[in-house]
Amino acid sequence: MISKVTIDQVYETARLEEVIGDFVQLKKSGSNFKGLSPFTDERSPSFMVSPVKQIWKDFSSGKGGNVVAFLMEHEHFTYPEAIKYLAKKYNIEVEETERTDAQKEMANERESMYLVSEFAQKYFANVLWNQELGKAIGLSYYKERGFSDESIKKFGLGYCLDQWEAFTEHALGKGYKEEFLVKTGLTILKENSANPELTKRFDRFKGRVMFPIHSMSGRVLGFGGRILTNDKKAAKYLNSPESDIYHKSKVLYGIYYAKQAIAREDNCYLVEGYTDVIQLYQSGIHNVVSSSGTALTPEQIRLINRLSSNITVLFDGDAAGLRASLRGIDLILEQGMNVRVCTFPEGEDPDSFARKNSKEEIENYLKDNSKDFIQFKTSLLNEEAANDPIKRADTIKEIVSSISKIPDRIKKEVYVQECARIMSISEEVLFNALAQITNKKRREDLKKTNIPENKAFEVLKHSPKQEKLNLQFELEKKIIEMLLLYGDLLQEFEDLVLKENESGDLVLEPENTEVKVYEKVFLDLQEDEIELTDDNFRAIYYKLIEALSQKEDFSIQLFLNDLDNEMGSQVSSILMEEEKYELHEWARKDIYPKEKEKSISQLVSETILTLRCFLVKKRISSLQNNTQGADNNKELLEEIMNYLQLNKLLNKKLNRVLS
Ligand code: CTP
Ligand code: MN
Repeated sequence: MISKVTIDQVYETARLEEVIGDFVQLKKSGSNFKGLSPFTDERSPSFMVSPVKQIWKDFSSGKGGNVVAFLMEHEHFTYPEAIKYLAKKYNIEVEETERTDAQKEMANERESMYLVSEFAQKYFANVLWNQELGKAIGLSYYKERGFSDESIKKFGLGYCLDQWEAFTEHALGKGYKEEFLVKTGLTILKENSANPELTKRFDRFKGRVMFPIHSMSGRVLGFGGRILTNDKKAAKYLNSPESDIYHKSKVLYGIYYAKQAIAREDNCYLVEGYTDVIQLYQSGIHNVVSSSGTALTPEQIRLINRLSSNITVLFDGDAAGLRASLRGIDLILEQGMNVRVCTFPEGEDPDSFARKNSKEEIENYLKDNSKDFIQFKTSLLNEEAANDPIKRADTIKEIVSSISKIPDRIKKEVYVQECARIMSISEEVLFNALAQITNKKRREDLKKTNIPENKAFEVLKHSPKQEKLNLQFELEKKIIEMLLLYGDLLQEFEDLVLKENESGDLVLEPENTEVKVYEKVFLDLQEDEIELTDDNFRAIYYKLIEALSQKEDFSIQLFLNDLDNEMGSQVSSILMEEEKYELHEWARKDIYPKEKEKSISQLVSETILTLRCFLVKKRISSLQNNTQGADNNKELLEEIMNYLQLNKLLNKKLNRVLS
């Protein structure tokens, strides 16, 4: 268990915008930051971060909350994991009450898998640096490849002894469970069904040098292990199997070390292998990641796209793989990214090239040889098809197909013009081919979504009926918002009270009282015995009233920290309502032009009175419905009369506030 003191300190120290900035490229927007949603595939930013409120809101997925909620959503951390991550980031010492065996047992499965992976990484590194065989075999291999001590340590490289179960034995001895060793793939079980006693265990990575694979936030998810012999039958690299913590298609090797540089340089170099990443990094090129030998997946592209929309793919100098790889790049275009490619001289890969050249030479080479992907592809295919008309037709189709993947229409046009020039054909031919592909795709998309064509836009219109139904919801939301923002402010409220005037008649007279906003809200709603109807709002409402009445100085941050994620998200949504309009600057001006100019007490009175009027009217009409066919109408009618009178009074008050 992490101590309360530590948790409080973490919350006090952590800056939301800094924490999120490690994962999402944020741009300043007024007093807020905005960026592309890390939870969806969007192209225009709807992810907002408020440094003032210390909350975030993703308007495309609806998620939101405080700093811990972000880490839990984004990194799939548990609560303690998120706190520990922040403590590490901000150099806060974690004060922990010792875990009992029972608590160890409780720690969930994924956490156990993380722990065993972290343990394995440390173990393999220790073997590499401190054991004779590790030094003689593993360390000297890395040195031979030109890796510096610093790089080997930075990337956490290690060595797995060439013994059947050295690692497994050691891990079991340290109390790690076989179950998780097997689930992470570090240990392989060879069962003997006839005699279970004879089940054998052995180390998956026996005799290999180890490359740990980290998540964006630096946790060890799995490993790549390289064989050291020239055994043609064994795979050169062996990787951890898919597991609950390691999804090959969702990780990029090196992203943890590269993320800051990718955002800073606003470009990401994509290479094929582990060694390419390390060698380039060692040379001073830090914005580099690897897809580990497979075609890039949409999830991996999204990982990069959060940091920068520019990607440069570095190809090995063997022409064989090049053509096949070109097609995979369309996927990157589809995500709206700008793609450049760079090839290396015959026989070189980024690893060998970086080893032979200085940082300046590498940078110059990359600068001089990186080409825009579409231009590159066009030139390449064009050369190949020079004198072959049939091939030429295929080439046109293939190029246009790539162009069609680009979401931006203007970019598309520029490319058509450019490619027409390179291929010396008319733009018209290309535009026609493009239109054909686009139309075909549109028809297919339409079929998939099942929306009749002419109705596609109807959902955007608001019907008046819908708005009426939502009024109560909006008012209740507004009440929560006011409590959050102004709950503990002292305000002067005007009320109309019945008084006797000089001639002895009862009249309504204004009377001013000074109370805190939350008291006003609470007392007024209680007067009519009003309960908020929305379940979530009602729960938040009572929590808020409780917090406001108990604490001397109420803080939204502290309040948020005590809520569960679901409620925290709700509260964030309410608090970030304003920011939604910042995303579409046009909207706010038209919808709520006057609100800002009102005083807080006016706003509070108006909201409560509007809600009360609304509810009283609702009550009246339901009573009126009841009178039809009722036996004893007298009491009912009396009740209706009372409510009508109340309604009149409330309206009078409302009019005073509004005027
Ligand atoms: N790879 C793999 N399994 C293999 C071969 C390759 O997972 N059997 C992945 C590894 O991530 C590797 C990348 O594909 O880093 C590129 O493969 P390759 O170019 O063959 O390896 P290099 O990184 O060049 O490794 P080395 O220089 O050590 O030969
Ligand atoms: Mn290679």
